[in-house]
Amino acid sequence: MKPTALVTGASSGIGFRIAQQLATRGYDIIGVGASDRILELPQKLPGTTVIPLRADLTDREQVDGLWREFEQLGRPLNVAALNAGASLGGAFIDTDIEDELRLLALNVTSQVILAKHISRAMVAQRSGRILITTSLSATTPTPYESIYGPTRSFMYSFAQGLREELREHGVSVTALLPGATATEFHDRAGMQQTKFGDNSWKNDPELVAKLGVEALFSGRDHVIGGDRGTRWAALRNKFSSEESKAKRFAQDSKPDERD
Ligand SMILES: NC(=O)c1ccc[n+]([C@@H]2O[C@H](COP(=O)([O-])OP(=O)(O)OC[C@H]3O[C@@H](n4cnc5c(N)ncnc54)[C@H](OP(=O)(O)O)[C@@H]3O)[C@@H](O)[C@H]2O)c1
Repeated sequence: MKPTALVTGASSGIGFRIAQQLATRGYDIIGVGASDRILELPQKLPGTTVIPLRADLTDREQVDGLWREFEQLGRPLNVAALNAGASLGGAFIDTDIEDELRLLALNVTSQVILAKHISRAMVAQRSGRILITTSLSATTPTPYESIYGPTRSFMYSFAQGLREELREHGVSVTALLPGATATEFHDRAGMQQTKFGDNSWKNDPELVAKLGVEALFSGRDHVIGGDRGTRWAALRNKFSSEESKAKRFAQDSKPDERD
């Protein structure tokens, strides 16, 4: 049997590209998505054994159900990419708290639950690699996307801590921090009326995924996902005050009056 990789958010964007790169490296893919389009993944990755699993990761029952489905497959887990995620644009005073709680459930709670199952399984087999997609937004306050950035900071810090714990068990953890990337992400977040509404200037998801997968197999603790400008922005964030970063971010994320 070929090695197995579980990829959440594999139906589109960065997750699809991660699945594609892992397939090229000889992995069978268990691809997870929220909607029916995950069922198209086998056709999109011809020549690879692909098992699509549908689960709404905002729902705790479905997160646990997903893990049970995985266990029933009776496969070892060699690579896990916790990548599914979303954002929500708009002023905090206007956004709906129910949407924000769902965002926390997807971007944080579901990842922690899956990481618990995955870590225990990989420690028991004394091997495995975990890739956690966070964001460059982990390194800055994110006004007008006010809940999203903190979910990515949580996951970045969590990934680094988990990495240290799992090291002695032969399991490595790598965090991927993409800069803005040309996927459906900002459109779905309702950010059309911001600088992020335009995909033309953003990173190529294929490049972002390639950097993440290379870092995963090199055992790196993290990698910035993107071009030179993205790496420069990451460096600048290290040396800027939180207040100045918040101001800069708001210039790009605050909805303008465009139709
Ligand atoms: N794009 C960017 O600018 C950017 C920048 C930094 C970090 N990131 C991070 O990259 C990751 C992937 O984002 P992307 O840009 O590739 O976005 P995307 O194109 O919108 O893809 C999101 C993926 O997550 C899945 N998903 C969404 N909600 C879900 C739910 N409730 N349950 C299960 N799966 C769900 C989607 O499945 P369906 O299609 O079936 O709904 C899809 O496969 C996220 O964690 C995000 O934080 C993105």
